[in-house]
Amino acid sequence: MMNLDHALQEISAAPSLEALHTLKVQYLGKNGLVTQEMKTLGKLSPEERKEKGRALNEIKEKLTAALAAREAAIKEQALQEQLEREALDVSLPGYAFPSGGLHLISQIQKELLDIFRTMGHSVVEGPEVESEFFNFDGVNMPEWHPARDMQDTFWLQPPEGFTIQGPFGESVNDLGSALLRTHTSPMQVRYMVQHTPPFKIVVPGRVFRYEQTDASHEAMFFQLEGLVVGEGITMADLKGAITELARGLFGAEGRVRFQPTFFPFVEPGAQFAMWWPERQKWLELGGAGMVHPNVFKAVDDYREKLGLARAYEGVSGWAFGFGLERLALLRYGIPDIRYFYQQNRLSFLRQFRN
Ligand code: DAH
Repeated sequence: MMNLDHALQEISAAPSLEALHTLKVQYLGKNGLVTQEMKTLGKLSPEERKEKGRALNEIKEKLTAALAAREAAIKEQALQEQLEREALDVSLPGYAFPSGGLHLISQIQKELLDIFRTMGHSVVEGPEVESEFFNFDGVNMPEWHPARDMQDTFWLQPPEGFTIQGPFGESVNDLGSALLRTHTSPMQVRYMVQHTPPFKIVVPGRVFRYEQTDASHEAMFFQLEGLVVGEGITMADLKGAITELARGLFGAEGRVRFQPTFFPFVEPGAQFAMWWPERQKWLELGGAGMVHPNVFKAVDDYREKLGLARAYEGVSGWAFGFGLERLALLRYGIPDIRYFYQQNRLSFLRQFRN
């Protein structure tokens, strides 16, 4: 006969569900101790059977109850351990998900375009790989013109079969060498060939100069070009637009100053500065003027060559162009233009996170 106390002790000390299962099989399984005892009942006399049967049933009930109790206890303990293990400490700091931001120059470009959009300008863009014709000849800078010296140029040797396309997709390979545009002014010619006045546009974009870089010179930078053409357009319209630009950038106190200067594509030409109220100083920003008749003529000649009607006789227009980095350098007191691209220092750029 088995020892009930020993069995109960074993059960209450079972360390795991597996151990408990083994005990259950050992006592109550098909070949278990209690089951075997039950099988002997048939050989007993009725009284003995009755008595032993009751005793065995009692044992069986006690074992069953003990097994169930131990099983519940083991499960409860496992749950507690799991809860402890997976406890969430809501006081810990979260993971950072760094978000990107626009480069300072992109921000300024956006700001400038918004100002001109409110004045009714459309935004257009043009190719960076450009033809000598649009970059120079078309804007009144023929090959012999000394002004070409001011814009040191990256000349390109395109691979066999490469074509530079004009405004309508036509090849312009025969009009000069390929180059990286030195300013955004070639888009004046491209746009005028393709459209008839009146119109107002601005052209943002990358330009390239073959220059030694230093604190204020980069081989690549951004410009914004403006062009307005129509009947009766005057220098007063130009001054009004640039004044509006100054107010957009520097608030109601923004003012502009024009000083006569020479650019081949304008006559008269001017350089303009903006008054920076906060610092009480002038920022020398860019060039502007009334579109030179030779530019209109180059456009009309090109149109005629394509079979289009001349469209720029009897109209006038103004244009401007300036560098975005220069505006950023002055406005934010940044000491070195190389911070923007060459070094591309995140610690620097993050200061201007928008
Ligand atoms: N294209 C000139 C440059 O890059 C800037 C400029 C001056 C543009 C006068 C203009 C202008 O449209 O009228 O230096």
